[in-house]
Formats: sequence, C-alpha cells, structure tokens
Amino acid sequence: QALKIVTLLGSLRKGSYNAIVANALPKLAPPGMVIEALPSIRDIPLYDADLQQEEGFPATVEAIAEKIRQADGVIIVTPEYNYSVPGGLKNAIDWISRLPNQPLAGKPLAIQTSSMGPIGGARCQYHLRQIMVFLDAMVMNRPEFMGGVIQNKVDEQAGELTDQATLDFIRSQLAAFRDYIAQLR
Ligand code: FNR
Repeated sequence: QALKIVTLLGSLRKGSYNAIVANALPKLAPPGMVIEALPSIRDIPLYDADLQQEEGFPATVEAIAEKIRQADGVIIVTPEYNYSVPGGLKNAIDWISRLPNQPLAGKPLAIQTSSMGPIGGARCQYHLRQIMVFLDAMVMNRPEFMGGVIQNKVDEQAGELTDQATLDFIRSQLAAFRDYIAQLR
C-alpha cells in the first residue's frame, strides 16, 4: 500500500513560490509515495477560545485534521515572514493544537521553506520546529530543504519549479522522508 503524504501550505497568494514547490512534489515522490495537498488555510478564522466554545472547530480545521489522521506523514511547505512562521500558518496550527485526539501527535513531519531571501526561510524552519515540540510531531531533522532566492528557481509563467539542483534535492528529501517513516515504524 502506498505511503500517503499530505502537504500544508503556509502561503495564501495565488502566485506563491511555495505553492509552486508544493505542486512539484507529487512528481518528485519516490515510488510508493502519494502526495496530496491539504485544504487551504485561507478561510480559517483567527483562533478564539470563545468561538471554539460557541461554534466548535471551523470545518476547514476539522477537514485538515481528518486528512492528517489518515496520512502517513505531513510536509509543511511555507515561506518565512519576519524571520518566523507566517501568522496564517501559526493560526491554523493553533486551532489544530486544540483538537481532541490532536492529529499531529506522533505524526512524521517534514518541513520545506522557500523564500526570496538567500537562506530560504531557515529561521522560520527553526521556529516551526520549536512549535512542533509541543504538538509532539515527529519532525525529520535532515535533509532540510531551504529554497533560497526561490524566484530564480522557478518559471513563474508556467508555475513550475525548474532549477535542477533544487528538484534533485527535494527528490532526495522525499526519499529520506520515506525512510524516516519506515524507521519510526
Ligand atoms: C517576507 N519575505 C521574507 N523573506 C525572507 O527570506 N525572510 C523573511 O523574514 C521575510 N519576511 C517577510 C515578511 C512578510 C510579511 C512578507 C509578505 C514577505 C519575503 C518572502 O520570502 C516572499 O514574499 C515570498 O515570495 C513569500 O512566499 P510565497 O508567498 O511566494 O510562497
């Protein structure tokens, strides 16, 4: 049976470089791994405990959580905002963290950051790792994918990741993620 991996995207904009990276993943997956995108975090309201109490969890949060529960692993694909995790992504994680049977607990997780800066969102990556300590996700250490100067590595017109070294690196990271999941079992 194929390994099911789901991707959580941290950017909302149409032309997102991180979306281009996330969209490239299915074709870069090793044999026996299927990668599919989770629903967009766009319409998740700001976390508010009163809202949670009065209306329960947003449908999108429930849908994302259910798909994470059914998946063998999660890849978070995100830009870095102000040296950290984009607010929208943090908000989605905050909602997820309040769910009973919290779906990221014990879940294999890989991180991919891409940004226009030279170090590709490294600082976001380490903040995200810190957040995942409390969520108790099993975050793969290496290889770390940090897509620096990502605007030079894509064909924006076609919406495709084109840089060969980047494609090769992601392919190797996905193969390592497959092995990491096997190791955890
Ligand atoms: C950025 N950007 C950015 N880049 C980076 O390398 N380090 C950073 O700390 C930040 N901070 C930051 C904050 C905010 C609010 C914005 C809007 C942008 C630039 C960022 O890399 C660029 O906008 C990417 O294009 C964002 O990724 P997507 O949306 O293309 O996936």
